[in-house]
Amino acid sequence: MAQDWQQLNEQVTALLKTAREQVLAKMQSPLTVDEKTNRKDLVTNVDKSNEQFLIEQIHQIDPAARVLGEEGFGDTLQDLDGRVWIVDPIDGTMNFVKQRDNFAMMIGIYQDGVGQLGYIYDVMQDVLYHGGPALGGVFAGERRLKAPANIALADGLIGASGPLVVHDISHMQAIVHASAGMRVYGSAGIELINIMLGKTLGYISYLKPWDIAAGKVLLEALGCQVTTIDGQPLNMLSSNLVLVATEKAQRDILQIEEDDVSL
Ligand code: IPD
Ligand code: CA
Ligand code: CA
Repeated sequence: MAQDWQQLNEQVTALLKTAREQVLAKMQSPLTVDEKTNRKDLVTNVDKSNEQFLIEQIHQIDPAARVLGEEGFGDTLQDLDGRVWIVDPIDGTMNFVKQRDNFAMMIGIYQDGVGQLGYIYDVMQDVLYHGGPALGGVFAGERRLKAPANIALADGLIGASGPLVVHDISHMQAIVHASAGMRVYGSAGIELINIMLGKTLGYISYLKPWDIAAGKVLLEALGCQVTTIDGQPLNMLSSNLVLVATEKAQRDILQIEEDDVSL
């Protein structure tokens, strides 16, 4: 089994490197940008073509597996039985369009609902964060990552999605006030990399399965907590208000929720 996972990891790594080359090449031509649900929810020709490419290749690598993809080129899932791959072809599409930077490709591989491998590829920095239980650790390229320091909310920076704070959903303003400060990167993948590297102590956002599938595997393997904002397990088939944090910061945030703190 361990041998199989190792081989699978090599195949996924090669696949993502090829996908990156294709995305960089497509960035040389004008993008086709469409709105999905509103003017801040975008999709480009590259999101679509990259998802199609990734899913076709995943079916070649792992014919028995099912694939859930953000842009709809995969399977419709009612459960997580067997092997399931969850794909976000471009995470941070707004950054991709406006900045040409700070976006990621993400793949999570689950076996009977248990995350085994996660991949977050920072495309412009060319660093592939990958690992999980099946690899016995988490790596940035070839470098094994240490678990981030288990710091309390008051001692570190927290990542969050802007609208949650603006509308003060689930005590967000009190949480940010209790931290050392807030940072907003505009890509769940980039936010999660920052936690892996110890640059922030957590992240709070409404996320779909493809936004958190890879990161959940990686962050849990590094000793962080990945739950809903009230400490419950995530439902990996629907949206969740997700809290990713060090153990201590999670405890502090759950206390703010329980005490119903507001500013
Ligand atoms: C979005 C980004 C964004 C987060 C949204 C996600 P997308 O993903 O990760 O930072 O706040 O919730 O949907 O749509 O660019 O893949
Ligand atoms: Ca996403
Ligand atoms: Ca996406």
